[in-house]
Amino acid sequence: MHKRQFIKNMAMTSMAVPLGLAGIANSFKMKANWTPDALAKEEDFWRSIRNQYVLKPDYINLENGYYNFLPQPLLEKYIAHIKEVNLQGSYYMRTVQWENKKKIVTRLAALAGCQADELIITRNTTESLDLVIGGQNWEAGDEAIMAYQDYGAMLDMFEQVKNRYGVVNIMVSIPNHPKNDEEIVDLYKKAISHKTKVILVSHMINISGQILPIKKICEMAHEHGVQVIVDGAHAFAHIQYKIEDLGCDYYAASLHKWLSTPLGAGILYINKKRIENLWPLLADGEKQKNKIGRLNHTGTHPVHTDLTIHDCIDYYEMIGHDRKEARMRFLQLYWTNKVRNYPKIIVNTPADPSRSCGIANVGIEGMPPSIMAERLMKEHNVYTVAIDYANIHGCRITPNIYTTTEELDHFVTALISLSKTT
Ligand SMILES: Cc1ncc(COP(=O)(O)O)c(C=O)c1O
Repeated sequence: MHKRQFIKNMAMTSMAVPLGLAGIANSFKMKANWTPDALAKEEDFWRSIRNQYVLKPDYINLENGYYNFLPQPLLEKYIAHIKEVNLQGSYYMRTVQWENKKKIVTRLAALAGCQADELIITRNTTESLDLVIGGQNWEAGDEAIMAYQDYGAMLDMFEQVKNRYGVVNIMVSIPNHPKNDEEIVDLYKKAISHKTKVILVSHMINISGQILPIKKICEMAHEHGVQVIVDGAHAFAHIQYKIEDLGCDYYAASLHKWLSTPLGAGILYINKKRIENLWPLLADGEKQKNKIGRLNHTGTHPVHTDLTIHDCIDYYEMIGHDRKEARMRFLQLYWTNKVRNYPKIIVNTPADPSRSCGIANVGIEGMPPSIMAERLMKEHNVYTVAIDYANIHGCRITPNIYTTTEELDHFVTALISLSKTT
């Protein structure tokens, strides 16, 4: 399609008058009797959510996984918090800053399914996980297990721990299409030795969208006395679970991903039993070893981001956890089902709907992922990200709840047309 025509068409799709927050809440109430799966397919309904976003008309954004930017009502709340903190200045910082933070932690803990005294707010998943990885009492020869499909920054941190303390890192590789949970659990089990101290595992692999059986991995690891650190960057506010049910020792997530908070917000859960054995990243005045606050020294930081977390939880709760998950899974299956068996198109995400949600990865036989991403953008106005390592070679596709099936149809047509050029 000619670029100018494409931009004109895309602009037309977002011209409806946006409903305010109250209007949206009302339209959710009117659909209260709908099952999440039925509502997931109701394009007109989701269009009212789409209208709350300001979207660039130049391209279809299928790379929401990096940062789930804010819909306008949340952006306005954020700006209002910035203005208020700017007005109050030090007075805010010296009076209600910490009290407010506590309230936000309490709400986040309820959402995450853990106790408030086991959760801290950090800047992101990287900070949370690096605190846990770097803060262990490592001894030379200790072993840590992780996967090639884990996030690069955490693998880099383990490499630093290896160079600094002589820790031995054992790598496993997660198959893209596992037969069952046991196949995954066994991979980790076989890598355990009497020297294993921790397993790092992704709840949802960021490059393929595959969901791993965390609870079973934790049960198996604990039978061997091994701690489990879970990277939940992409799972939080995307799929539903309670951290306490997973039974892990540590859990980290970024709130600027699926909770759509402003940039620079994350969480870290630490099981009570583990708090006293960790070293903080930044030393704090709290000296009691079993207090999580000891691990949460932040220095002066953007408190207006913390305040906006409240509003983002309100928004997420208004949508409904089950409705969001159903919409995200519907969108992924909508396009993957159309191309999964298509010649030369390789879907690197499991077909079993319980093993993925909104994120999937697709490659084209004979086309390097970087070229695929470039051609999707240049020739078809579809923005994605190329992934080309471990066993995953393709583009990661992350819609958001505002993505339309019309946009996904456009993407599928683009994919098929590219597959015919190799
Ligand atoms: C699985 C996973 N872990 C960790 C991170 C790091 O998140 P952040 O940059 O917010 O710390 C990401 C970011 O995309 C991720 O996908």
